[in-house]
Amino acid sequence: MNRKIVIAGNWKLHKTNQEALQLANQIKIKNTHIKKAGIIICPPFTALSEVHSVVKDCNVALGAQNVYWEKQGAFTGEISAGMIKSTGAVYAIIGHSERHQYFGETDETVNKRINAALEAGLKPIVCVGETLEEREKNITAQVVTRQIKGAFAGMSADAMKNIIIAYEPVWAIGTGKTATPDQAQEVHALIRQLISKEFGNAVADNIVIQYGGSVKPDNAESLLGQKDIDGALVGGACLDADSFTAIIAAAEKLLQA
Ligand code: 13P
Repeated sequence: MNRKIVIAGNWKLHKTNQEALQLANQIKIKNTHIKKAGIIICPPFTALSEVHSVVKDCNVALGAQNVYWEKQGAFTGEISAGMIKSTGAVYAIIGHSERHQYFGETDETVNKRINAALEAGLKPIVCVGETLEEREKNITAQVVTRQIKGAFAGMSADAMKNIIIAYEPVWAIGTGKTATPDQAQEVHALIRQLISKEFGNAVADNIVIQYGGSVKPDNAESLLGQKDIDGALVGGACLDADSFTAIIAAAEKLLQA
């Protein structure tokens, strides 16, 4: 199996178009030498087309932060997978815990969004992860298993080749509390096992499972050094070109070792 590491930046609700262009340009320029690590940036919908014009011919791929499952119709304020695809974006984050927390996301809607994204030719970055309460109740494995089964219900092994999974413990998002490399590795191994059981070893061996939750330049290497951690989904630290670049550098270093 070829070791892969993919670093994605989730810009969340940040950056006007002008600011987005500036950040994308800086990220592009600072990472021209990166050959092995994958790089994805996920600006807000409003900046996708403009940012695409900056990154279209380089090693930085573009993603959105959500997808609606209907193709078109009277769904005011929603954005379809086809619309996202038309901006030049290739990826879409789906089921982020903030969508669950603030916007009524469920395992079922995550599944619908994944299907719509795949149908339009987008690659979903599917988020799972337990809350602090769930971790303290010792039901992390149960929760993540339910989320994985729900998200990928009815999916074919072939479709799974276009999926990235991000394990993001909710208690580690934006809190400065990172899961220890061992805590993260344990859940990543469980996720790979579940994927293997449902879709076979080949899919499980090749699927990228990212960790997310307070990933910073100073903890990136120890997290990415874990056997089943194939990347990071970065929030806060991706809004600054230097800190995002330092995380990418940690990935590249591990891949060259
Ligand atoms: P932070 O890196 O700010 O904790 O956010 C993680 C995240 O939610 C990425 O999707």
